[in-house]
Amino acid sequence: MAIYVCIGSSCHLRGSAEIIQRMEDTIAAMGRKDEIQVAGSFCMGNCSRDGVSVKFEDGVIESVNEENFDEIFRKHIKEE
Ligand code: FES
Repeated sequence: MAIYVCIGSSCHLRGSAEIIQRMEDTIAAMGRKDEIQVAGSFCMGNCSRDGVSVKFEDGVIESVNEENFDEIFRKHIKEE
């Protein structure tokens, strides 16, 4: 499974590097590094003022930020 985090200029300004790091740390803590890859992506056409665009298997979520990260991650990446 792959998760794409937008690193376009708008998302970059809204913290995409921090979101990628947090995602990698969370996946590592779950022991699922071999199963879930995190990759950067160019602009997804969903630039938002409130956060970063992230593409999960079930769709693109706009506005991912430090505050809503845990809730969104849990919703889209189910525990094994
Ligand atoms: S820069 Fe991320 S959706 Fe446009």
